[in-house]
Amino acid sequence: MSATFDQTFQANKDRFVSEWTELLEFPSIGADPERDKDCSNCAEWLRRHLTNLGLKSWIQETSGKPLVMAERKGKEGKPTVLIYGHYDVQPVDPIEDWTTPPFEPEVRDGRLYARGAEDNKGQIFYVVKALEALIEHDALDCTVKILFEGEEECGGSQGITEFIKTGTDDLKADILMVTDVCRVTSNEPTIIMGLRGIISLGITLKGADYDLHSGMHGGIAPNPATGIARLITSLHREDGSIAVEGFEDDARAVSEKETELAATTTFDAANYAAMIGVAPVAGEKAFTPVERVGFRPTVEVNGVHSGYGGPGGKTIIPSEASAKISCRLVAGQEPETVLELVCKHLTKHAPEGLVMEISDKVIGGHALRVDSETEPVHIATQALAKVTGQKPVFYYEGASIPIIPSLSAAAGADPVLVGFGSDEGRAHAPNESFAIDDFRLGFLYACEFLSSL
Ligand code: BES
Ligand code: MN
Repeated sequence: MSATFDQTFQANKDRFVSEWTELLEFPSIGADPERDKDCSNCAEWLRRHLTNLGLKSWIQETSGKPLVMAERKGKEGKPTVLIYGHYDVQPVDPIEDWTTPPFEPEVRDGRLYARGAEDNKGQIFYVVKALEALIEHDALDCTVKILFEGEEECGGSQGITEFIKTGTDDLKADILMVTDVCRVTSNEPTIIMGLRGIISLGITLKGADYDLHSGMHGGIAPNPATGIARLITSLHREDGSIAVEGFEDDARAVSEKETELAATTTFDAANYAAMIGVAPVAGEKAFTPVERVGFRPTVEVNGVHSGYGGPGGKTIIPSEASAKISCRLVAGQEPETVLELVCKHLTKHAPEGLVMEISDKVIGGHALRVDSETEPVHIATQALAKVTGQKPVFYYEGASIPIIPSLSAAAGADPVLVGFGSDEGRAHAPNESFAIDDFRLGFLYACEFLSSL
């Protein structure tokens, strides 16, 4: 069957790329309220596309962004697959670093460049095109349900969370298929066995009513920039471990099976440095990089702002400083509890004389663990081997797709996470791209996986 699907791909490649380009032209930046209309237009484009393929599709309005939903009934006795993805994308800044504008997709050297090219529009669209091909070849026996959200990248997934409370019957499935993930490297087909959970927050430290003359006030007035630096430093110990009291109390120990599966991936520090531009030296030295990413929690500073950053100097004590923090969580940790502990730590360590405010608290979601013994994981392993001719590796991913644990529970479905992203794709960065060859692999994998159910 693979050969037939590949013929279909080759025969339709140009049209697939031009439709994918159309999807990428919507500036559906989830975090930007000014792009709300573009998000709903994008959702509507997807809905219409799915209808044209012969699926029953509809828009589920929510108090957040609209959900794109669709269904196609399969044969009696065949499983139901819920396909998850997101049509929202990350912001584009720094815009000046893009070679071509983020929402004017362009093919260069076999890669399509645009915001969302990989994360996640490219990776949802090859599944959509696989459905088209499967329907055309009369090779889709299972029931397919689709759920594409518009709030993954801003951490909320408010729409799905709301919908789970009311409409779970629409979500019931045997398998939760997710392609919003990457490979360890671009030549290793990868099955993702875990995701980290996530929480985030903002901190502001307020000092004087206005920026002070640093000569007249230096040594008397507390400095918010120094304050935020100290506060940030207080979050870790010298050895890289997290200094927030109780932070890891509920983290579950790594099982033998997890250790065994994680050992299928190797990590090459030199290759990492060449690829990323920095050596993998952060975190706790007691753990390997694969362990640190897959099995250890983090506290990360996503941004710090204070005072003067323009040309030359300016002798001031800034009146304010702020920082954005996110924490990655591992299995066992409760997002709400951890967020409270971080706030408690910050309150305890708040520098004297400055007023601290904590804002934008987001409970993203729990970590995910995939059961390696489930049928969907076995089928995905075979499908990947067939399509790539290689034995897949198993990987515990450090990134998050916050809604997956609760979606999987609400649907009663076993998750299976396989995608074809890679570091070359630069997801979240300027010049995001996705190789057309990888789009093809994703298409073939989805065809194989879905047709063998
Ligand atoms: N697709 C990514 C998650 C991902 C990245 C999985 C790489 C596997 C490999 C997803 O869209 C994402 O970026 N999630 C955010 C969630 C956050 C904004 C709440 C993340 O992990 O930072
Ligand atoms: Mn994504």
